[in-house]
Amino acid sequence: MNMDGRNHHLKEDIREYWSKRSETFDLAFGHRIPPGPELEAWAAAVRRGLGSEPLKILELACGTGEVTNVLLSLGHEVTALDFSEAMLNVARRKHAGRKRVRFILADAERTMEPDESYDAVVCRHLVWTLTAPEQALADWYRVLKPGGKLLVFDGDWARPTPLGKLASYAIRLIDRLSGADPHYDGAMSDCHQSIMQRLPFGEGLTVEKLVPLIEATGFENIGIASHAPIAAAQRKTADLRNRLRTRLYRRFILSCRRPG
Ligand SMILES: C[S@@+](CC[C@H](N)C(=O)[O-])C[C@H]1O[C@@H](n2cnc3c(N)ncnc32)[C@H](O)[C@@H]1O
Repeated sequence: MNMDGRNHHLKEDIREYWSKRSETFDLAFGHRIPPGPELEAWAAAVRRGLGSEPLKILELACGTGEVTNVLLSLGHEVTALDFSEAMLNVARRKHAGRKRVRFILADAERTMEPDESYDAVVCRHLVWTLTAPEQALADWYRVLKPGGKLLVFDGDWARPTPLGKLASYAIRLIDRLSGADPHYDGAMSDCHQSIMQRLPFGEGLTVEKLVPLIEATGFENIGIASHAPIAAAQRKTADLRNRLRTRLYRRFILSCRRPG
């Protein structure tokens, strides 16, 4: 893997952070996508962004393979990539024996995949943690076939929404009364904070910041969809603390196309 020298330490820190969380990642609320209303809501969002035809998809930063599962459930053929061997091990274990999926260890900012080889590129919760967003977007454009689509699920994890501030206060109260959730290592952990401070989107990833970069890369047909249906599906089964967590941050779903 060829890392950008200037950002080497930052990338190593990011990789170490996720590797340490690999075995418990799925236990933290919002990561696992359980069958039922939540899986259906994610599948609907993917269908809306990519259509219903089976596609050859490059999934970036697949982590433990939860979005991989959504893509496979829709009949797509998936190459799922992550730069954390520990995360990939969890994903490989989860999807052992399944067809139409392969996992590769690679840097999402420089995938080394062939030019014009994918119908779609998909990522959840990666863009906010990119160290070189312009370089990454140019690489994703390169690996997409003409007319291919990019689908990004992400959010502003640096600043809670006004309602999120209230929710955060209520969560702290619940934590105090019933004990903190050991698996929820969210935006408040020291390690996470130290990484955030050094990221290009460390002050928060917003649609307003991302769209000009997407346009400058050459993508067209940019669309923004709401994450609200997914959050509503999560609230159907979540306990109070996790229902509050669905209110913390502003999330978005961005889709766009390489001109065909
Ligand atoms: C928040 S987790 C999201 C995992 C998965 N996409 C999901 O939504 O469940 C972030 C993931 O991005 C991976 N990651 C971060 N930067 C990366 C990079 N430059 N190349 C490859 N993977 C990266 C981490 O290893 C981690 O698995």
